[in-house]
Amino acid sequence: MSDKPISSDYPFESKFKEIDGARMHYIDEGEGDPIVFLHGNSTWSYTWRNIIPYLSGKARCIAVDLVGHGKSDKPDIDYRYVTHYKYLEGFLDSLGLKNYTLVLHDWGGGLGFNYAMHHQDELKGIAFMETFVRTFDSWDDWPPDLVEGFKQFRTKDVGWDLIVEQNVFMEQILPYGVKRGLTEAEMEAYLAPHRDKKDRKQLWVWPQELPIEGEPADTAEIIRNYVEQLKKSPVPKLLFYVEPGAIVPEPTAIMCEKNFPNLEKVFLGEGGHYVSEDHPHEIGEKLSNWYDQIS
Ligand code: BEZ
Repeated sequence: MSDKPISSDYPFESKFKEIDGARMHYIDEGEGDPIVFLHGNSTWSYTWRNIIPYLSGKARCIAVDLVGHGKSDKPDIDYRYVTHYKYLEGFLDSLGLKNYTLVLHDWGGGLGFNYAMHHQDELKGIAFMETFVRTFDSWDDWPPDLVEGFKQFRTKDVGWDLIVEQNVFMEQILPYGVKRGLTEAEMEAYLAPHRDKKDRKQLWVWPQELPIEGEPADTAEIIRNYVEQLKKSPVPKLLFYVEPGAIVPEPTAIMCEKNFPNLEKVFLGEGGHYVSEDHPHEIGEKLSNWYDQIS
């Protein structure tokens, strides 16, 4: 881990775009070809705060909050994958992206890979970490330390009680996935969007969308499809992985290297699921060098 300090500040100007009646919050820093940062469950664009400064001197860095997350509106919708995709596609299409690069984590990858494979003409590169590069045919494929918890999250009523009533995803899963430990200010930034129980359904829906044992069938099929396309895509790819990680442990990183053309993998050392919190400076530096090479 770098000894550079990790800042809890989010010193960016907030911007909003209305998509399908909901305001989506984003930040837009720097000029040049666009780099779009997509977060996943239980985080928001805050997760990229220490990485963006490495790129904003050479690119237009856009980090959006998925609908229902961060500072975006939290409408009363189903929050299924396909619904998120509709909002995100609306947002990304509205930017008129040319020569764009994606930086993806968790469900930001589940959504972003799908978008990228449908919009390959202007795609310059994809960097990703701890995201969906496979489906999980059985629970044996899921990280062993998370099997019990996620089985409960996917059990009717039990999961709702844990995630919505008890706020377990925010208060336990998130800090468990950051090896260095989040500070009080960082924890506060992550908890703020979901203080109100009515704003936690979206946290509960994401674990229901995980492509485990073929369910849900529609989301699993979308992921299988984009994985097949990634195997054919020559676009430059950069994969960050950690030990033990969660959904991209070393064997999965090796599988990506073997199967996805033009991929460089970078091992960051010890870390959990929320890689950008454990290793922001290493990610920022490497991303910046890789970006120079592909530009
Ligand atoms: C997820 O939301 O996909 C996730 C969160 C924590 C650990 C593993 C997966």
